Amino acid sequence: MVIKSLLGLLVVVFTLFLTSQAGVVSYRKTQCAGTVHKAFNPACCKWFRVLDDLQTNVLHSTCGDASHSALRIVFHDAIGFSKTKKFGDGADGSIIMFGETELEFAANNGIDEIAGDLKRVADTHGKSYGDIIQFAGAVGVANCAGAPRLKFLAGRPNATRPASEGTVPEAFQSVDTILARMHDAGFSPDELVALLASHTMAAADKVDITIPGTPFDSTPDSFDSQFFIETRLKGVAFPGKGHKRGEVASPLVGEMRLQSDFALARDHRTACTWQSFIKNQTLMNQCFSYAMEKLSVLGQNTKHLLDCSEVIPHPESLKTIPHLPAGKTMADVEQACAATPFPKLPTAIGPATIVKPVESCDGDGN
Ligand code: HEM
Repeated sequence: MVIKSLLGLLVVVFTLFLTSQAGVVSYRKTQCAGTVHKAFNPACCKWFRVLDDLQTNVLHSTCGDASHSALRIVFHDAIGFSKTKKFGDGADGSIIMFGETELEFAANNGIDEIAGDLKRVADTHGKSYGDIIQFAGAVGVANCAGAPRLKFLAGRPNATRPASEGTVPEAFQSVDTILARMHDAGFSPDELVALLASHTMAAADKVDITIPGTPFDSTPDSFDSQFFIETRLKGVAFPGKGHKRGEVASPLVGEMRLQSDFALARDHRTACTWQSFIKNQTLMNQCFSYAMEKLSVLGQNTKHLLDCSEVIPHPESLKTIPHLPAGKTMADVEQACAATPFPKLPTAIGPATIVKPVESCDGDGN
């Protein structure tokens, strides 16, 4: 009798647990009409149609240029937020809604293509620009081996005003200026370092337009800790290689090093967290996920958002281990964290590493 009552109670608790603010969540997946997908929450089904469109026509299910840009626009949209000043509303899609204003800001150079692609997908499926940016960012990250599966909440209303110029940090700014801007948006130095794991799946087209697609690490097609390793190697003066504004000497032929990444990798406020991710992918992924979740709902009331994380694909696991690029040794490492020595790493075997550019999807190299 007691067991029967307990079982009954468990069923009630379980049913309540599965009841979400947006309706009843089934404990069994239901087929989503018009797709090959199934969802626990039928209210999330429509996001599978968006997923198919995005993966087929924009991101190409690869950790390439478009997936990288989809992550970058997440930051540039959301960071237009301030705790102290009355401007910007955070992760609200204003960078698309008010593209004629925000895409003209120098810091947003190169965002126009992904903004146009995402606008089309959002308009086709009747989604808000704030939602499509966060969704594409999470899917883009999931296209990279080793990445965490980010959360996705849907239901952001469309933006009503553009962000102000000056909210997006720039590569030529000092660490003090960058940390102050991030603090004003609600992020600690540790959280900024966690967000910068994004630069492991990244390349620059606009810092030096003569070498578009120049990656920030030797493995831009995976979400590993190589970015945190390679930014701590000595820069090399390669013959004939000058440096544009916001760029400093990199350690590898074909690699781009931002002045801000160089400085943050060595600053006493950020260097130890930077280094802590090198041999701890789990920690890096957890901290990145947490900081990205915070970024994705900046300025939003999460009570009005619906959790459709089940639509985000599962990333493949990483097939490599943290290493020094071929041709480098521990003697090339620059110490920066006073508390802990740089971790010992094996060197990849082979001729000195030459980093290949990330190919652009539009075929014109821009
Ligand atoms: C200190 C803060 C940051 C600075 C100064 C910075 C600066 C830059 C610059 C200059 C580029 C190259 C743009 C180009 O020439 O095409 C870039 C690319 C990129 N950034 Fe950042 N960034 C910062 C933080 C972030 C954060 C927090 C994220 C994401 C959460 C992010 C994601 C990316 C991605 C994914 C790319 C590559 C885009 C592509 O390959 O198309 N960045 N960043």
